Amino acid sequence: MASGQLSRAEALVCSGCRHACHVMLYSDTKTKLFGRIPIRHIILMQMRFDGLLGFPGGLVNPSEETLEAGLSRELLEELGVALPISVEDHVDSCHAPASSSSSSSSQLITHFYVKKMEEEQIREVERAAASTAADHGQEVLGMVRVPLYTMKGGGGLASFLSHSFIGNARSQLIDSLLRLNLVAPEELHKALTHSLG
Ligand code: APR
Ligand code: MG
Ligand code: MG
Repeated sequence: MASGQLSRAEALVCSGCRHACHVMLYSDTKTKLFGRIPIRHIILMQMRFDGLLGFPGGLVNPSEETLEAGLSRELLEELGVALPISVEDHVDSCHAPASSSSSSSSQLITHFYVKKMEEEQIREVERAAASTAADHGQEVLGMVRVPLYTMKGGGGLASFLSHSFIGNARSQLIDSLLRLNLVAPEELHKALTHSLG
């Protein structure tokens, strides 16, 4: 386990901590951009109220609800769909850097989940998020898909990664791309080099 990371059980022992759960929803797709560039996977992120990119989810109170029930509640508010999240979808938990907890003296622990869906289910989430979701236009300004290809000049994933992200959402995305083999390591490396330059 990398430094700063906790198991789900270790994280829950900290009763004085605040907890936030977020999820990466994704699917495979056969569609192509301009009829020739394979899109390969649809990964959902959101433009937040604070102008930063992040994953759907939010603050959860483990004394009132399980982490996964709290995450499902946040998803209903932010995406407008009931999506069951289970312990098996949990990827990691870690202490957020001090700046993420600045509004409160208590330490924030962030829990990250990944859930693979069918392409049609992802499209349904996008439709609901833009119409019936309670938080649409308020906490959530819109859902965005992550471009996974890299075009000449660095457009695509490299440009996407050069935006500003909340907390450790950017590294959660990069780690997931590698772990789930959604982008080839050498392509990701190229995109990271471009996004820093
Ligand atoms: N990685 C690490 N931390 C994150 C991530 C992430 N991917 N995404 C969000 N956070 C942090 C945010 O900085 C925030 O402090 O987790 C906390 C809660 O996440 P939100 O999704 O912002 O919480 P939510 O419950 O949906 O919204 C409540 O209203 O009162 C405000 O500022 C408060 O952000 C909070 C929002
Ligand atoms: Mg929320
Ligand atoms: Mg949120």
